[in-house]
Amino acid sequence: MKHKSQFPTLEGRAVLSPMSGVTDVAFRALCRKYGAALTYTEFVSGTAIIRGNVQSLRMIKTDPIEKPVAVQLFGANVDDVVEAARRMEETFDIIDVNCGCPAWKVIKTGAGSELLKKPQGIASFINKLSSAVNKPVTVKIRIGIDDQSINAVEVAKLAEDAGAAAIAIHGRTQKQGYSGQANWDIIKQVKDAVNVPVIGNGDVFSPETFKMRLDQSGVDYIMIARGAIGNPFIFTQINDFLKDGKYVQGNRVKQFFEFFELAKKYKIPYPSIQTHAMNFTKTMKGGAQLREALSRCKTEEDLIMAFGKTNMGE
Ligand SMILES: Cc1cc2nc3c(=O)[nH]c(=O)nc-3n(C[C@H](O)[C@H](O)[C@H](O)COP(=O)(O)O)c2cc1C
Repeated sequence: MKHKSQFPTLEGRAVLSPMSGVTDVAFRALCRKYGAALTYTEFVSGTAIIRGNVQSLRMIKTDPIEKPVAVQLFGANVDDVVEAARRMEETFDIIDVNCGCPAWKVIKTGAGSELLKKPQGIASFINKLSSAVNKPVTVKIRIGIDDQSINAVEVAKLAEDAGAAAIAIHGRTQKQGYSGQANWDIIKQVKDAVNVPVIGNGDVFSPETFKMRLDQSGVDYIMIARGAIGNPFIFTQINDFLKDGKYVQGNRVKQFFEFFELAKKYKIPYPSIQTHAMNFTKTMKGGAQLREALSRCKTEEDLIMAFGKTNMGE
């Protein structure tokens, strides 16, 4: 079955990768404002959604200003994922299936990257899902389970035939976790093997690397994960660099306070706001002292005070 709903044409080439504990609605909205062409929710369990789990329902909160936005679902129970996708297809522009998570608590249930062990299983998963919803269904995969069983090209082709509207691929194996380097040669092989858009992913932390990977691999889009944590401005920098060959530095404190306003608007729980505050100050000069103060904060007011006590306003 070919996909019945096409992947949208995005306004830019840089996409915010799904990240658990990071890509909440406030952070996504800010990345979108700074030029992310598409954003993803963190991975959400299909089963938890249909059971009405409060934490999972919070993860799928969204706002029209962040469109286009993808929801990323995971689960070993296809029927639950299909039902969750049905409930969410009004709200989200894309339904993505996580076939890449290497965490033990996920793979022991047969979900995430464990699905790569049975490429035909991924195909029937996608087939069922894309038949059940009217929005484009995509997959995010890794290159394989380990170096001896790299099967990304096979999985991508099967997924495309089963109805996937795009393939996102992180160039590492399940076994690698986050160690070693992303293999962009395999990402290029996937791009060359399928006709649907391919979103490459792995180790892109600067506009220069972004352009190099784009040129070398020919992928349609690139997803940024760690490079965007506490750094939504990277999307502006990438877009500027692709257009003009240059970019400017941003003000992390100012960006954090923009995030803070959005976090209040969307009622992001305090512990997440505090984590984001630590993230935004990570690479700042003298940031260690500020982070030490931020780590001791207990309330939003404390956070504001901690920022106020430093000379980090730039
Ligand atoms: C904190 C964190 C949380 C993540 N959560 C998810 C997730 O929910 N779903 C997913 O598909 N990948 C998740 N990933 C993987 C990233 O989306 C991405 O594939 C990986 O980090 C490689 O990209 P990078 O080199 O740009 O960081 C996560 C990564 C990080 C660092």
